[in-house]
Amino acid sequence: MALGVVVVIAVLCAIWVLRGGADAEPLPGQPLRTLAKAKGLEIGTAVRGDHAKRNRAYRQTIAAQFSTVTPENEMKWEQIEPERGEFEFGPADDIVDRAREAKQKIRGHTLVWHFQLPGWVRELGPRELEAAMRTHIAEVVGHFKGDVGVWDVVNEPVSDRGGLRPSVFARRLGEDFIALAFRLAHRADPDAKLYLNEIGAEGINAKSDRLYEIVSRLKRDGVPIDGVGFQFHANLDGLPDDHVANLQRFAALGLDIAITEADVGVPLPPDGQKLDHQAQIYEQIVRGCLTVTCRSLTFWGFTDSRSWISETQPGMGAATLLTDKLAPKPAFGAVQRALGG
Ligand code: XIL
Repeated sequence: MALGVVVVIAVLCAIWVLRGGADAEPLPGQPLRTLAKAKGLEIGTAVRGDHAKRNRAYRQTIAAQFSTVTPENEMKWEQIEPERGEFEFGPADDIVDRAREAKQKIRGHTLVWHFQLPGWVRELGPRELEAAMRTHIAEVVGHFKGDVGVWDVVNEPVSDRGGLRPSVFARRLGEDFIALAFRLAHRADPDAKLYLNEIGAEGINAKSDRLYEIVSRLKRDGVPIDGVGFQFHANLDGLPDDHVANLQRFAALGLDIAITEADVGVPLPPDGQKLDHQAQIYEQIVRGCLTVTCRSLTFWGFTDSRSWISETQPGMGAATLLTDKLAPKPAFGAVQRALGG
């Protein structure tokens, strides 16, 4: 008898774990994706495939609130081609399958980046590196053709002082690696929108000036670039005053604009005042995006339990819209209001 009870409890526990725990508590107000749609805007989040697999409430919140997703790490070179010519598409495929079910678009992140790059790529000379780029881009973009509508083709090519970042790509191939990457991506999927994505280029500064020069030249040379992604990793110092003017000068080149990785880090521990301040900055990000008619606004995660800020920046955290228990923070309401909710 006692054994029977134990077995039943064990089975119930197993079912609970397999379904991924509890359902998400409904969030107040209209879902972000509904509000954004009325404004003609795609609204998205970075997602972590491993957590999505395990946690039902996390999955449900992604499906309910967002119209696009960006795999946070699963499409990076290190994960998708860890050994030369050996592709591991499984974890990214899982995210793509879930997004399809939730009727979400997918932003592919990222094809050519100096970071989260496997060691073997760094060791290649110019010819071999170019060959590796050709294979990588053709295979990855080809694999997701029709599913991934937008690619961050090149990520973070400019250094903070405005030089070309001395990545293995820049050192071996010079600035031309950027145009090459776009041409290869376009060849692999002529329908995908191709973006250059940059960090710390939100305001008018040496970095965004150089970025402006680079994309102007790409346009002039007929390179198939469709847009520029601005990451918008912010903190309580706020946004640069001229961020709207900066985004507008890029839009004036005939390029689409997207905000691709927004979050607002808070010095720990968070308190009411800091979270209200954070909410104001989130609101400015959304309003700025609407002002420049950006196509898409993606948050770099949506719960404080899964955010790279708390994982990588000591003393900082609480950077997202929802608590680690998926309860709304002031920032969530502020984003809803800025979207007209
Ligand atoms: C970060 C991820 O969020 C982390 O999980 C990972 O450990 C490192 O990369 N700019 C980018 C993103 O373009 O890919 C980075 O994502 C954050 C900065």
